[in-house]
Amino acid sequence: MNIFLTGASGLVGSVFARAAARRGHRVTGVVGTYAGELAGVAVKRAVDLTDEGATTAAVLEAFPDAIVNCAAVSVPEQCEADPARSQAMNVGLPALLARLAHHVSARCVHLSSEQVFDGTRPAPYGADDAVVPINLYARQKAESERAVRVAAPEFAITLRVPLLMGDSPGGKRSLHERLLADWAAGKTPRLYTDEFRQPCTADNLAEVLVELCERRDGCGVRHWAGTELLSRHALGVKIRERFRLTETQAPIAAVTRAETPEAAKKRQACLALDIAPLAALLKTRPQAVAAQVEGLKVPVPVREWYLRQS
Ligand SMILES: NC(=O)c1ccc[n+]([C@@H]2O[C@H](COP(=O)([O-])OP(=O)(O)OC[C@H]3O[C@@H](n4cnc5c(N)ncnc54)[C@H](OP(=O)(O)O)[C@@H]3O)[C@@H](O)[C@H]2O)c1
Repeated sequence: MNIFLTGASGLVGSVFARAAARRGHRVTGVVGTYAGELAGVAVKRAVDLTDEGATTAAVLEAFPDAIVNCAAVSVPEQCEADPARSQAMNVGLPALLARLAHHVSARCVHLSSEQVFDGTRPAPYGADDAVVPINLYARQKAESERAVRVAAPEFAITLRVPLLMGDSPGGKRSLHERLLADWAAGKTPRLYTDEFRQPCTADNLAEVLVELCERRDGCGVRHWAGTELLSRHALGVKIRERFRLTETQAPIAAVTRAETPEAAKKRQACLALDIAPLAALLKTRPQAVAAQVEGLKVPVPVREWYLRQS
């Protein structure tokens, strides 16, 4: 299968390219600013995806069987800092890709976020529950879901995913990479004891995305995540244990939402996703947290510091 992948240099896209290549698919991978090598990418293209003409030309040249959109402004603070750019990337781009998928009769797989919900209830959210976005990133993701559904209802699947773990190309993107960078710099990261997430890894998600490319059913909005809900603080402790670091080498400050009331207004307390409907369709199995952290690697930027700790 010929797959057009955006965000090939991101946390999810880089892992997806490898997973797709292992299954024998040919990946055209679009990057923005990343200049390094990317395993699994057969054809690497640098395209500014806010440029509709350039994006359209790249898709039509590839004439793909599937379009997988892993490009985004994926950090909420970065959306607030540049709303026009994040609107173009998080809404304009998926809408355009869905229209192009419809045009070339390609499967379209778009990534959204658990953050479209307000996180005020502990029960898992179902894919049909009403979205209540409480920050700009979440509003853009919700808007992208509607745009994709309208543009390519018979080709598109939007997958809402949770906090993601894994090894990114630059070694600075994911939670364990940021925690290790803080510890190496002598900092004490602050993690909430009362914000709950249901993480999964980019590797596990990539397997799901490959399966979704290979089949044509299951259109609409779907949920994927891990099997466990835990606090950000508990997850940080599990990451510290995974790398066999002590509390002195890797301190974590426990913080509550009540201590940061302004920030808490734009942060969801509890985001659990009902993944049973999609899990029933797929061969890929959702993972427990222990299996997720076990696979994490020491990122290149902190490798020397890490070797000095043992
Ligand atoms: N990471 C999470 O915890 C998480 C959680 C829920 C949902 N998601 C969603 O999952 C998807 C993938 O997230 P991720 O964490 O893998 O993202 P990421 O690591 O931040 O990667 C973003 C990608 O977008 C590309 N990009 C940004 N602006 C671009 C532009 N103007 N032109 C071309 N490429 C551009 C970047 O390319 P360069 O780096 O080469 O510039 C990079 O490949 C996103 O839709 C995100 O919202 C992520």
